[in-house]
Amino acid sequence: MTSPSTSVTLPLFDLTRQWPRMQDEALALVADIGSRGAFSLGGELAAFEGAFAEACGTADCVGTSSGTSAIELALRALGVGPGDEVVTPAMTFIATVEAIARTGATPVFADIDPIRRCLDPDAVRDALTPRTRAVVVVHLYGMPADVQAIQRLTDEAGVALVEDCAQAHGARLDDQPVGSFGAAGAFSFYPTKPLGAFGDGGAVTTSRPDIAAGVRSLRHHGSAPGDANLHLLREGGTERLDNLQAALLHLKLRWMDADNVERRDAADRYRELLAGLPLVAPPLDPAGAEPVHHLFVVELDARDSIRAELDAAGVKTGIHYPTPAHLQPAWAELGAGPGSLPATEALASRALSLPIFAGITRDEQARVADTLRTALLNA
Ligand SMILES: Cc1ncc(COP(=O)(O)O)c(C=O)c1O
Repeated sequence: MTSPSTSVTLPLFDLTRQWPRMQDEALALVADIGSRGAFSLGGELAAFEGAFAEACGTADCVGTSSGTSAIELALRALGVGPGDEVVTPAMTFIATVEAIARTGATPVFADIDPIRRCLDPDAVRDALTPRTRAVVVVHLYGMPADVQAIQRLTDEAGVALVEDCAQAHGARLDDQPVGSFGAAGAFSFYPTKPLGAFGDGGAVTTSRPDIAAGVRSLRHHGSAPGDANLHLLREGGTERLDNLQAALLHLKLRWMDADNVERRDAADRYRELLAGLPLVAPPLDPAGAEPVHHLFVVELDARDSIRAELDAAGVKTGIHYPTPAHLQPAWAELGAGPGSLPATEALASRALSLPIFAGITRDEQARVADTLRTALLNA
């Protein structure tokens, strides 16, 4: 069955809708920075770091080249390295796991809570060993993890808590922003994220001066504060956030909360439109949680054939993530084979991300729901 609107493709994310509202100011920023040649470690970077720290409720923020480098540098600044174990979910973008491994530490996978789809505190408790040096919790799809329960465990065990907030900018738990619970928060500014740059970027949020200083040094070749030719740390690199990206992010930060509200409203609308269909929608916000719905992930049987029908009807979807980290060839050596993380594996086999972005219209969401209903009837 087709409808007249199937000729227009509906993308999973439509990033072009953000452009008109910022075009004039964004072009002026490019002209200003270009005319001054202020490309690296400039005043715009410091200004954005201050504003983003304030938005996240932390004392400091350090811009990095990506979300992956933010996680890695935060862990390195905490002293994580070879011989250490770091507990993390396998249901995440692979970058979380890579960043841990790049410090020399060993990732240890713990299962998720099937409702929130984030680390299950009981599974974290079971995964802690005397070698555990940190836990990296992921606020997956924009849903705050049960970070307070996990923090009680990490505090008790004397290990560090790092939050991977790459999908959750502006999400809150008991009115406290994510990125301010652990020793450090790590954000990605990849363009599709709730706050996206014009390319790659990331940041570490923290209220600990030692972590902020460590990440500032590591992102710039291990250099000393104020002396780029004095190198205090060996593991540094070129991991800075560009001044221009920081200026554009600072401009876009103005709309972050409003965009998050729009996606929350869109999630509520999907829940109404999809009510009664044989699928599991994202949880109604668990007590105290304000998710930002970076992704709206439903769980369905026959996911792949339904996805193909949506695709044929011009509705683009995603799968986040079809193969969890512990079943990836790259991580087979960790020995956590099929069946070891049941909730993770169930979600990976059933998850389907529907189009959601600030600016998605009611008609577009109705089209997604109608197409999905038809596909489910045909299944
Ligand atoms: C959960 C999660 N962690 C880490 C990252 C890595 O961020 P980046 O792509 O900026 O390196 C991403 C980005 O896709 C992510 O979704």
